[in-house]
Amino acid sequence: MSSFDQRAPESGPRLPIRIAHISDLHFGRIADPGIVDALCDDMHRSDLDLVVVSGDLTQRAFPSQYRDAAAFLTRLEIPWLAVPGNHDVYPWWRPVLRLRDPLRRYRKWISQKLNPTVRWADLAVLGINSAFGMTVQGGRIALSDREQMSSFFSSVADSSFRILVVHHHLTQLDAILDHDIAHGARETLLCAADQKVGMILCGHLHISHVAHLENISQGRSLIICTAGTSTSDRGRGSDPSANFYNQITVDREQVVIKEKKFDATSSLFLESSVSTYPRA
Ligand SMILES: [Fe+2]
Ligand SMILES: [Fe+2]
Repeated sequence: MSSFDQRAPESGPRLPIRIAHISDLHFGRIADPGIVDALCDDMHRSDLDLVVVSGDLTQRAFPSQYRDAAAFLTRLEIPWLAVPGNHDVYPWWRPVLRLRDPLRRYRKWISQKLNPTVRWADLAVLGINSAFGMTVQGGRIALSDREQMSSFFSSVADSSFRILVVHHHLTQLDAILDHDIAHGARETLLCAADQKVGMILCGHLHISHVAHLENISQGRSLIICTAGTSTSDRGRGSDPSANFYNQITVDREQVVIKEKKFDATSSLFLESSVSTYPRA
């Protein structure tokens, strides 16, 4: 298999909808030999409707790493949506390819769609690519992406819960000093709030964190959910050896985010915290 299309059904489950948010898998830097199987098994046991992968599927965009990432996605018996991360572009020592076609291998192995969508009756998801060949540390969200965001979310039902997926981060986290923030972050947050986005899913920082941002624009608030690295040995924060992913349940009145942490002794992902927020 050299490539496959994003599986994004046009008609889907109704509320409550359950989503796995995984990120920064970094095939090539897998933390524990059993962790990929444990992640797959835990998601398959959890009655999920969708898996969101918020970028950095590989460590250096090598073909072998993309092959492993693609094999992982092929194993999933759940529809998935992915966006690229900065580690998924050609590495810096391939400058010509990095500039000319930075995500050629991503498109070959993972998906042709760099800004994928899911449009169900009760859920609308848009992924935005923030990784470029010329990317600075924090990534970049272009005006054309915000225009696509406005166009997409304007076209979905008012009752749909709206999720934006982007690899790079849009706000400063106190848990990490001086981390990078995507170019265009402020404009993107305002656009998301104006488009009634209820939740942003991101990664890149390798730390598990959930925030509820109030009154961004026109009194609107939204949840920003940052998944830690789900499978790699590149964690940050107070427990850098920890691996995380999130299970998110969207219901009519509320959104519940369950953080799951890998326990190497049992080789299981165990629930470590739960946050509940009203739906925006
Ligand atoms: Fe990463
Ligand atoms: Fe990253």
